[in-house]
Amino acid sequence: MTLVLRKSQDFKIWRKQQGQSKTLGFVPTMGALHSGHEELLKRARRENDLVALSIFVNPTQFNNASDLDKYPMTFEADLAMAEKNNVDVIFFPEYIEMYPDNYRYKVSENAYSNILDGAHRPGHFDGVLSVVMKLFNITSPSRAYFGEKDYQQLSLIKGMAESFFMDLEIIPVATVREEDGLAKSSRNVRLSESERQKAPHIFKAIKNSESAEEAAKILIEDGFKVDYVTDIENRRFVAAYLGEVRLIDNVEI
Ligand code: PAF
Repeated sequence: MTLVLRKSQDFKIWRKQQGQSKTLGFVPTMGALHSGHEELLKRARRENDLVALSIFVNPTQFNNASDLDKYPMTFEADLAMAEKNNVDVIFFPEYIEMYPDNYRYKVSENAYSNILDGAHRPGHFDGVLSVVMKLFNITSPSRAYFGEKDYQQLSLIKGMAESFFMDLEIIPVATVREEDGLAKSSRNVRLSESERQKAPHIFKAIKNSESAEEAAKILIEDGFKVDYVTDIENRRFVAAYLGEVRLIDNVEI
């Protein structure tokens, strides 16, 4: 049976009761769980004595109010997935629990967070880093699991953990895709039928093009509104809108 805790203090008490020698695998999420999240839970279950999942739609990382309003909430289905994967505890806090200071204090990074998604979503990564730091401090995980679909987020969280001497391991997990190549995302349910059919072109374009410019051109011709296609080191990153839904992806090149 998966326990659901809503208060940070209750979580800390639970963690102490289990004994600090037990390893804890932690999967932070905003809910609306899909098989990409399930992969993180399975990996956490294999590698740790205890598994915790958090569900918190973090308002400080949304730079667009309607994106926040439309974020899917599926708690009953999320709980069922947690139970199926033997998650020990779900941390499911309310805003006031996470932001008793109303976001007076925040964690910022000053370089990598300003490019790619950071350049198009002002304040986004401050929100992500701040909430993840809070969640780590509440849950005291041994390992925390993040999908490579949000590669920039993963790199920034890894950097934060190193910079602040945090005593945990950040574990990257490969992107889970639909059969047609579309990266699994909680936002995919907001695509119309015709948008859903077109969405896998994003992956094909960045994987098969000779250059970022060529991939961007293909997507624009296909009707996507492209925020960026950029190559950094050995990776190609993309963010593009289909209708109102913003999709991101990345591949190794
Ligand atoms: O990737 C997400 O779902 C969120 O950005 C995270 C890491 C749970 C922080 O709110």
